[in-house]
Amino acid sequence: MKELMDKARAAMAMAYAPYSGFRVGAAVRCADGTVYTGCNIENASYGATNCAERTAIFAAVAAGHRSFTAIAICGGHGGVVEDYCMPCGICRQVLSEFCPPDTHIHIAGPTDIRTYTLQQLLPGRFEL
Ligand code: THU
Repeated sequence: MKELMDKARAAMAMAYAPYSGFRVGAAVRCADGTVYTGCNIENASYGATNCAERTAIFAAVAAGHRSFTAIAICGGHGGVVEDYCMPCGICRQVLSEFCPPDTHIHIAGPTDIRTYTLQQLLPGRFEL
């Protein structure tokens, strides 16, 4: 878990966040143990911004992975983690497309890491 968070923290350094200054990194562990990372990528149109979690998940899916066991997330203004960076609603729904409800979501705070399940963060998820 610490190793996954270290990768999320390293990915945060790649954030492109000139508009908000809020930098986020994520690292997703695939069922075979492979790890993919992502950062937030902002856009002048604001709405085209992509969150770090989705960048990581989309990179993994584009590489052929469809099953994940955990994701680590960290973020903060200027890359300083002052609070727990909870994943936004869209990212929770994207996670739910590929992750079972018991998937662990690790979120860095200033001094520790909190772990939730996807079920805790997205009860009653939308499914077709
Ligand atoms: N952001 C993420 O990368 N992940 C989240 O779950 C919430 C928000 C990013 C988007 C934007 O670039 C910045 O944080 C401020 O909203």
